[in-house]
Amino acid sequence: MQTIKLGGVSVPRIGQGTWHMGEDAGQQSAEVRALQEGIDLGMTLIDTAEMYAEGGAEEIVGQAIRGRRDEVYLVSKVYPHNASTQGVQAACERSLRRLGTDTIDLYLLHWRGQYPLSETVAAFERLREQGKILRWGVSNFDTDDLAELDAPACATNQVLYNPDARGIEYDLLPWQAQQNMPLMAYCPIGQGGALLHDATLQRIADKHSATTAQIALAWSLRHPEVIAIPKAVNLNHLKQNVDADSVSLDTDDLAQIDAAFPPPMRKQSLQMV
Ligand SMILES: NC(=O)c1ccc[n+]([C@@H]2O[C@H](COP(=O)([O-])OP(=O)(O)OC[C@H]3O[C@@H](n4cnc5c(N)ncnc54)[C@H](OP(=O)(O)O)[C@@H]3O)[C@@H](O)[C@H]2O)c1
Repeated sequence: MQTIKLGGVSVPRIGQGTWHMGEDAGQQSAEVRALQEGIDLGMTLIDTAEMYAEGGAEEIVGQAIRGRRDEVYLVSKVYPHNASTQGVQAACERSLRRLGTDTIDLYLLHWRGQYPLSETVAAFERLREQGKILRWGVSNFDTDDLAELDAPACATNQVLYNPDARGIEYDLLPWQAQQNMPLMAYCPIGQGGALLHDATLQRIADKHSATTAQIALAWSLRHPEVIAIPKAVNLNHLKQNVDADSVSLDTDDLAQIDAAFPPPMRKQSLQMV
């Protein structure tokens, strides 16, 4: 598995998302098993958030990493409405309890809200001094937000990125590359929806004896600063996602994808889900 330095630590470039985990009690054991299998396969970066199932996803992650915390790079996120001085502290402590750990490797502001960025950053720095987080970053920040943040300590920005949502290529992605700030691509396979049935991706997938999900992942990973965090509970999906690491797209493949999903020619406002 290819790796990248994130917050000074080497992490795999394909990690595991957890949105919608913890929502259905009947799915819990399958979700724990999928995360454990994903770790075994090398997807040791796990992305979660207090928002997902209102803490339920963090509890699933906690079960999955019990006894093997050291193998995993844990990313979680604070709600904007908790991003105040006291709110960040309390939210992080709740997340740590659910995750069953003393430290979150990377703690993100999920999106911008009502609190000044300086207040949230000061609260993150306090958590760092306490050892409750190792690094902090942001999510759903556009270039103007990052400029306002103006913080070299920000380890990443996690945003929507897949062939059907590539507006960030105009400015945000090159800006982060220039700053050496890895970009975490969420919904890299378009939430398993229409993107996976696209005829162009299917043609390229057939050529590589791969699946459309693998082509979408390989496409996002063509940028060396990108980390993709697909979510998969289905074990076949998990294995495909790991193996996407070895799919390499050629210039003809990329040109076909550009024709089907044109790259941005001007600034686009940041897309979010
Ligand atoms: N920061 C933010 O605001 C934000 C927003 C959205 C997401 N995220 C993070 O990014 C992660 C990924 O995004 P996402 O979960 O929304 O969407 P996604 O990873 O693009 O898609 C997940 C869906 O695709 C299916 N799938 C996974 N691998 C597949 C494969 N190889 N072939 C076919 N289908 C496959 C999954 O099914 P199964 O589960 O049944 O395998 C699931 O239904 C989230 O889980 C979350 O951690 C962050």
